[in-house]
Amino acid sequence: MSVLVTGGAGFIGSHTAVVLHESGRKVVILDDLSNSSTAAVDAIRSLTRPDLPFVEADAADSDVVGRVIVEHEVDEVVHFAAYKSVSESVEKPLEYYSNNVGSTIGVTRAMIENGVSRLVFSSSCTVYGEPDEVPVTESSPTGAVNPYGATKLVCEQLLVDVAAVSALDVMALRYFNPVGAHPSGNIGEDPIGVPTNLVPYLMQVAVGRLDRLSVFGEDYDTPDGSAVRDYIHVMDLAHGHVAALDSMVPHGRFTAVNLGTGEGHSVLEVLAVANEVIGISLPTQVAGRRAGDVERIWADPTLAAQLLGWHANRSLHEMLADHWHWQQKHPTGYRAS
Ligand code: NAD
Ligand code: WQD
Repeated sequence: MSVLVTGGAGFIGSHTAVVLHESGRKVVILDDLSNSSTAAVDAIRSLTRPDLPFVEADAADSDVVGRVIVEHEVDEVVHFAAYKSVSESVEKPLEYYSNNVGSTIGVTRAMIENGVSRLVFSSSCTVYGEPDEVPVTESSPTGAVNPYGATKLVCEQLLVDVAAVSALDVMALRYFNPVGAHPSGNIGEDPIGVPTNLVPYLMQVAVGRLDRLSVFGEDYDTPDGSAVRDYIHVMDLAHGHVAALDSMVPHGRFTAVNLGTGEGHSVLEVLAVANEVIGISLPTQVAGRRAGDVERIWADPTLAAQLLGWHANRSLHEMLADHWHWQQKHPTGYRAS
């Protein structure tokens, strides 16, 4: 039996594919390479097995997904495949709804038609919008503040509705801010174009691809005035998926679970630890607040501990050290410079 990983050539999917392989599962990756490359698949194979099956396809195509399920005797699915840029989603809402909701429909349809019931779905802390209270629990109010976030809420609701009338069991993992890389430095985050996320941006400043980091806002109501997030090591996140699959129960229907550390760190704290890890003081400038940013958010990870027996254990220092290791080994990502 095998686990199908849609979007498995991407940042979180590649790390999860490696950890799923280490858990003793047979892994099959399906990805349309819209935000990744075969170089990522080669790197995953170098850490797993040289013939790890990879299918280049659109997860929205339920016929293809169904054929992969039958051919590889798939009995569980982790569905990462989605577009994830907040700013791009504002420019291209139709593409985002079409791809993110369409791929979730394609995957669930293929699962139901072929009798596969265990699904882990990539959700996001973005479903909480700007929270009134922190930390956020799974029952905190939800609300989308951009089209990307709306696609995650629509997918969650779709999965609630489908699980209610089918044999589908769904665990929606709401990730906070994933950073870091595999300790080998062989796989990592490889954004196409100029990164919008904090850690990929500052790493590209560190290798000289970008001039300086803009700190978006130093006038928030936080201890040092910069915005606070729950950064989580991508390897901890990857292990969270294995724990989720291992703990799923038949007829569990739909369960949403936060995957975060439970600790908030400000932009200036991240910058200070990055400077320490990299060994230089990165050039920065203070810029205004970024439109749509929330002031502070971090997870209450109690439910993940209770249901999955999982908790994050890698520090912010380890996240940045591993991210830096990957960036040094691959200054231009998977592409040759
Ligand atoms: P990523 O872009 O690196 O990986 C997504 C992968 O899915 C890419 O390889 C892309 O080529 C593929 N893909 C996209 N649409 C597809 C389709 N229709 N069919 C097949 N493949 C398709 O992104 P990531 O950071 O690894 O995110 C993975 C998942 O986690 C996404 O669902 C994302 O929304 C969610 N998420 C990400 C973050 C984050 O900050 N990175 C936070 C919370 C949730
Ligand atoms: C973190 C902090 C920025 C860049 C995004 C998505 C969210 C989820 C995780 C997918 C913020 C500040 C950033 C820079 C900065 N993704 N910053 N200078 O915005 O918390 O969340 O990724 O589901 O949906 O919105 O992450 O890394 O972009 O920003 O000062 O150049 O760093 O303002 O306070 P964010 P981020």
